[in-house]
Amino acid sequence: MRTTLHSRQVAYEETGNGRPLLLIHGYPLNRMMWESQLHDLADVAHVIAPDLWGFGESESVADTTIGTYAEELHDLADALAATEPAVVCGLSMGGYVAFEYFRRYKNRVAALILANTKAGPDSAEGKAGRDKSAAVAREQGAAAIAESMLPKMLSPKTYASNPELVQQVRRMMESASVPGIVAALMAMKGRPDSTATLAEIKLPTLVLGGADDQLFPQSEFEGIAKGLPNSKLEILQDAGHVSNIEQPEAFNRSAREFLRGLG
Ligand code: MLT
Repeated sequence: MRTTLHSRQVAYEETGNGRPLLLIHGYPLNRMMWESQLHDLADVAHVIAPDLWGFGESESVADTTIGTYAEELHDLADALAATEPAVVCGLSMGGYVAFEYFRRYKNRVAALILANTKAGPDSAEGKAGRDKSAAVAREQGAAAIAESMLPKMLSPKTYASNPELVQQVRRMMESASVPGIVAALMAMKGRPDSTATLAEIKLPTLVLGGADDQLFPQSEFEGIAKGLPNSKLEILQDAGHVSNIEQPEAFNRSAREFLRGLG
């Protein structure tokens, strides 16, 4: 589906009825990473999954920041009349956007699901890595980014034994636009430290991680859960960085239970 926000086209998926569940994709992916959640959670929520600016079929915007992604999500929810407090669910970069969404639009958040993400900012080395990746994207395109990231996106077991899923994730990454990739890298490089935000999030929060995440260590998920006053931590087995794609049943079971528990 498509709509226009501030004269720019945004693509999104929408299923179900009830409390809004906003699904925010990771980098360099798009709304289709949530295919299974859009299908399986439609009976418990009004599920909305946009392509962030510059990804999938959403247009790029100049000077993208994590804040402009949060604003996109907020304005899309408005456009879809999903204005009651939402459950905001972000995976990895989507988690960075979820923290920002909470800071900007507290009264529009009922609960959070933070999957395979971290609260801290980029280290100096991490920031230099963003610049290197942006140069690779500009010079060699999205395929080169996909090639280097792919083995780290999935658990070693899935990477070795499920070529179909590997291809699915590869296709999604390769379809990202170079301007979208570069803008997201710069947005992540400049993102604020969300560590101090944790104590302010008194809302129910489900923290999900993959036992075999090759990008973020489990200590990141544990740290988020410890810093949050009202959280539940679940580490999904046989799941890497994109845990919702790799273990959709376990991910959806946890999310469903959490949504139902909110009443
Ligand atoms: C993601 O999966 O969204 C990214 O790997 C996050 C990051 O690079 O910090």
